[in-house]
Amino acid sequence: MTIPVSAQPPPAEAVRDLAEEVRRDLAATPKQLQSKYLYNGLGSALFEAICHLPWYRITRAEGRLLARFAPEIVAPVGDPVTLTELGCGSGEKLAMIAEALRVRRRPVAVHLIDISPSALELSERTLGALEHVSVVGHRATYEEGLRHAARQRPARGAMLVLFLGSNIGNFDPPAAREFLDRIRASLRPGDGLLLGADLVKPEPDLMLAYDDPLGLTAAFNKNLLLRLNTELLADFDLDAFAHRAVWNADARRMEMHLVSRRAQTVRLPRAGLEVSFAEGEAIWTESSYKYDAAEMSALGEARGFRRHAQWIDPDALFALTLFLVA
Ligand code: AVI
Repeated sequence: MTIPVSAQPPPAEAVRDLAEEVRRDLAATPKQLQSKYLYNGLGSALFEAICHLPWYRITRAEGRLLARFAPEIVAPVGDPVTLTELGCGSGEKLAMIAEALRVRRRPVAVHLIDISPSALELSERTLGALEHVSVVGHRATYEEGLRHAARQRPARGAMLVLFLGSNIGNFDPPAAREFLDRIRASLRPGDGLLLGADLVKPEPDLMLAYDDPLGLTAAFNKNLLLRLNTELLADFDLDAFAHRAVWNADARRMEMHLVSRRAQTVRLPRAGLEVSFAEGEAIWTESSYKYDAAEMSALGEARGFRRHAQWIDPDALFALTLFLVA
């Protein structure tokens, strides 16, 4: 795998970007921090561990659907195939799709896009084991990475973009629509988009998934403060904040917050910031929107895709939807 050097921001630049966004987001009402900052090395490892929890069923449900339907998913995608995964995680799901293409005896080009170097390294190892696959990694945002992949793909053949794991749920609905527009703009007729989305389910199931009894999700959330302590030299007392998960039924989303256990002031010297918290005041760190299956199809169709097929895991209530570009 090659990671283009130009896509790797030097640490000083990354710290400047983080400082600027944190200044803006902690000044907002309510205070917030962007969920993309959950995924540093430790955060990605914690998320990977969350995926193994019995109460967090998204990863296993999607794995079951891919194990069963990968041949059907790749059937409408023409050779030579380029696979592009946005947010590649461990690479295992992409490997299932690549495996289903092995029977065609044609080389498969894979583009991995992730902002986390550790996720890229992990998926490189997974995909590197398949000899019919060539891998290019892009340490970049989804959109930048997709632009690179679209530029580098061969003139002929089809590209299948994978956006799995219910990552679409971490966008608010207008951003999800805009994001699908941008994906659509990078694709050509005959290309496809495989979208994985968690579906609305009973509140107790959702609460266990986002506030697990082992406390991994709490650690994942609080790691955001630890990251600010490391990168912005902040002095967040991690024990002075509590993880809170909430099902917002009106907006149909799970929310994660970090709630200040007492009145306190926190300094973030590298952001030139001092922030006061009232007792009980929260920082909103993530939204996970839940859809129903028909809504998922409608979302893609409204952005100019044609829904080709949809597969649903009835136990975990999770959907994979395959869209094609006509
Ligand atoms: C990555 N994303 C789809 C996960 C989700 O379910 O929203 C992140 C996560 N947050 C808490 N647990 C897992």
